[in-house]
Amino acid sequence: MPVSFAIAEDLNATLIAAAIAAGLADAAAFAPEVRTADPRHGDFQANGVLGYAKARKLNPRAVAEQLIAALPPTTREQFDVSIAGPGFINFKLKPATLLAWLKTYDSVEHLKSGASGFYQGHRHVVDFSSPNTAKQLHVGHIRGMVIGEAICRLLAFCGSAVIRDNHIGDWGTQFGKLIWGFKNLRNDSALATDPLEELERLYKAADAASKENPAILDAARAELVTLQAGDPDNLALWHKINAISSGAFSEIYRQLDIRFDHQLGESFYNDKLQRVYDELREAGLAEDSQGALVVFHPEHPRFKTQPFIIRKSDGASNYASTDLATMLYRVEHFKADAIAILTDTRQTDHFEQLWLTAQKWFAKKGYPLPRFEHVTFGSILGEDGKAIKTRSGDPIKLKALLAEAEERAFALVTEKSPEIPEAERRDIANAVGIGAVRYADLAQNRSSDYVFTWDKILSFEGNTAPYLLYAVARIHSIFRKLAPGAQTPPSSSATVSDRPSESLATAPETDAELALARKLAGFPSTLQLTTTQLRPHFLCTYLYELAGEFSSFYVAEKVIVDDPAVRARRLLLCARTLLILETGLHLLGLRTLTRM
Ligand code: ARG
Repeated sequence: MPVSFAIAEDLNATLIAAAIAAGLADAAAFAPEVRTADPRHGDFQANGVLGYAKARKLNPRAVAEQLIAALPPTTREQFDVSIAGPGFINFKLKPATLLAWLKTYDSVEHLKSGASGFYQGHRHVVDFSSPNTAKQLHVGHIRGMVIGEAICRLLAFCGSAVIRDNHIGDWGTQFGKLIWGFKNLRNDSALATDPLEELERLYKAADAASKENPAILDAARAELVTLQAGDPDNLALWHKINAISSGAFSEIYRQLDIRFDHQLGESFYNDKLQRVYDELREAGLAEDSQGALVVFHPEHPRFKTQPFIIRKSDGASNYASTDLATMLYRVEHFKADAIAILTDTRQTDHFEQLWLTAQKWFAKKGYPLPRFEHVTFGSILGEDGKAIKTRSGDPIKLKALLAEAEERAFALVTEKSPEIPEAERRDIANAVGIGAVRYADLAQNRSSDYVFTWDKILSFEGNTAPYLLYAVARIHSIFRKLAPGAQTPPSSSATVSDRPSESLATAPETDAELALARKLAGFPSTLQLTTTQLRPHFLCTYLYELAGEFSSFYVAEKVIVDDPAVRARRLLLCARTLLILETGLHLLGLRTLTRM
């Protein structure tokens, strides 16, 4: 009896086929709307009968009965099917079906091949992190990084070809002051020890100096003009500053296990801007306004008067010009059919105007139109509810935050497990500390702000990284006890199970076994929801609930019992919980541990 990966999706398709087989009037218009349901009623529920029947003045229960009668025999073998309320159809997985599902999806590879249908053949460009050159990464930057990395992993797992692009802000007006500062105020020994720190100091010093002295402001502006005109000395300095900056960024990316396929910064599009100006003007979309080139959107309540400035009055390009060129490049060069750009919510207007403009432009030229998602996120707040800052009022540097996370995690691990050798405690602290910061961010709906508190994110209770990492380590220890002395496989393989016994496993029977098995089989729906909405918190909530379900199961049932069939099926449940917890956490970018 073959069992599908995405059960809800397949039931949906089955019901559409049943509608046709039953000869339902206007069957093509019937949308079954199968969703995961409250486990008390069944595992899945089709809600679409009601709307369909109402619109055609039919009796919904009668329609539901017709549909059920037309279901193929395999569906009746796999589910208990019933009608509830005015015409909902409930599907409850039979224990044997749960067993078959658990046996089929027994490795990361098999889960992945199941999930790969969701986005097969898609090409997604994900533009994330994308910081500005010569500024240090601070705590505000972490959201875009960790959410972006999780989104890339999720999309790839679901079958999409993902192109990760770090769209660095490397061509802004900051370079006038930076170059002037570099030439006039540089401290070479500081530059050698902490180059990014020194660049930041130089920028601030040059900025302050140019506020006090108009001659310095002019000099800084002149440096920018010289740079943009292609002066070799200034270009060389610009390269140097970018290299310093990207070296420091890479260090943080390495620590957070974040990678990119491309780092095409704003400057990459310099020679692609004229085409944007020309084509938008020719298409009648852009017009001159007080020397600038602007686009209005007459159909929009605000953007009919608030212009999208695509070239400034001094002829210089801006954020809009480069982003328009970027959009086209991603379609033409990367053949993207979807583009996701991550920034905080403050850039909403920019991307709304960008997308309105791009849609009209592409339609005029007959360019393929990709899907576009501006993936926004809220701010991280301190305990006072305001933007998180150091005591002196500066933004908290990401480097310092990550170091503090590891230090705090090390103290915790040492308190909990002093017997573990120090090197291993350090390694655990790294996974727990970095994982905690990352997970705290992912577990929140990205649209909201959240309050960052060390005690909460490092707690071993609640929806936190330490709780989930501990749950993983605990299941590893069950398998270690089973085969003392055996080497537990590295966590990345996520396939710890005593395989030979799996064939002995019988279908889940007790309430706790059934509840856990159902939760495990709910992984595909969660994965799909998380990935289509680009909201990792759905997966976090699911993993937290799964760990809770496992705890209840482990309290209720003894795993290592004499009856080989019972023991095998309980071990199977342990192994699959481990597999799905590890797979889920890895998709979120966390490193898991085998003991802690
Ligand atoms: N550098 C920008 C910033 O720091 C983010 C860039 C996002 N990507 C884009 N294509 N505009 O705000």
